[in-house]
Amino acid sequence: MVGSMVVLGIESTAHTASVGLVTEKAEVLGLASDMYRPIKGGIHPREAANHHVECFPGLVERALESAGVRPADVEAVAFAQGPGLGPCLRAGATVARMLALAWDRPLVPVNHCIAHLEIGRVGSGMDDPLMLYASGGNTQVVAYGRGRYRVLGETLDIGIGNFLDKLWIELGGTFPGGPALEAEAKSGTTLLPLPYTVHGMDVAFSGILTAALALSARGASRADIAYSVEATAYSMLTEITERALAHRRRDTVVLGGGVACNERLRTMVRTMVEERGGTMYVPPRSLCVDNGAMIAWNGWLAFRAGVTVAVEASGIDPRQRTDLVAAPWRVV
Ligand code: ATP
Ligand code: FE2
Repeated sequence: MVGSMVVLGIESTAHTASVGLVTEKAEVLGLASDMYRPIKGGIHPREAANHHVECFPGLVERALESAGVRPADVEAVAFAQGPGLGPCLRAGATVARMLALAWDRPLVPVNHCIAHLEIGRVGSGMDDPLMLYASGGNTQVVAYGRGRYRVLGETLDIGIGNFLDKLWIELGGTFPGGPALEAEAKSGTTLLPLPYTVHGMDVAFSGILTAALALSARGASRADIAYSVEATAYSMLTEITERALAHRRRDTVVLGGGVACNERLRTMVRTMVEERGGTMYVPPRSLCVDNGAMIAWNGWLAFRAGVTVAVEASGIDPRQRTDLVAAPWRVV
C-alpha cells in the first residue's frame, strides 16, 4: 500500500528541536520533540544549538518510524527560517537542507510565528479568525489582510513567555517559568497592585517584572505574585484582543504559542469572546508549544502555493517579522 504523502517539518527556533510529519489534510502522523532545558538561568543559544544538532538524527528517525512513513512518502521538507536564535535556526536549516538534498525533495521556508497561527486556524475550521499569538519571544494580535498577516498590536518590550520565564528564574525557579507560575498561582489569594500597561492595541511587560520583584523583596509570597502577575498580564492580552475584535468586526479568535497552554488565559479570552457572541479555539497543548507539525502544515500551505527555495538561497532570518512574509495561500 502506498502511504499518504506528507510534508516533513523541522522546528529549531529556540529551546525545542522537533520533527513533524503532516498530511495534506493536516493530519499529524508523527511528531518527535526534545526540549533543551538550561540547568540554571535562561537559554544559551550555542548550547541549545548543540543540543539540537545531537537530537535531530534520532528525532527524524523516531518521527518517521512512529508514523510508518518512508522517505519516499515525503513530498517536501519544510523548515523554520525565522524568527529565532541564529545558532538554533542554523542547526535546523542544515538538517532540512541535508534531507532535501538526500531525498531530492523541494525545500520550503516557513515563518515560525505564522506556523503557530496556521496550525490553530486549520484546527479551528474558522476561515478568517483574529489570532492572539502569545509565546516566549512574541506577543501579537494578528489578522490576515491583503496578502499578509498584519500585526494589529504587540508587545513593546519583551514577549510574555520570556517575561514569565525571567520572573520565575528571578524568584528562584528554573526554565520554563510559565507552567510553574501557573501551578503556583493556584494557591495565590491576594491581588497585588502591578502596572497595567496597554497602549491602544500594544502592551508592555517590563514594568510588571520590576514591580513584581520589588514586591517579592518586600516579602510578598510567590503564590500571590504569580496569581497577580497572571491576572494583570492576561487581562492586558484579553483587552487588546477585544479591541482588535471590535475594530476588525470579527467574532472568532484562535490562540497560539506556548503561553496559550495557560488555563487562565484561555478562560479569560474565551469568556470575553463568548460574551460578545463569538467563539474561541485553542489547539491541543502539543501544537501550542514549538513543534515540527506546525512547520510541516505551514509547509504544505506554502508548497501548494508555489513557495520553495533553492538550497543555496535558503539562509535563515533570525529577525523575520510576521508582517514581512507573504502568505500567498491566503490569497483567493
Ligand atoms: P516564539 O514562538 O516566540 O519563538 P518560543 O519559541 O520561545 O516562542 P513556545 O514553545 O511557543 O516558544 O512558547 C514557550 C513559552 O511558553 C515559554 O516562555 C513558556 O514559559 C510558556 N508556557 C508554556 N506553558 C505555559 C503555561 N501553562 N502558562 C504560561 N506560559 C506557558
Ligand atoms: Fe514558538
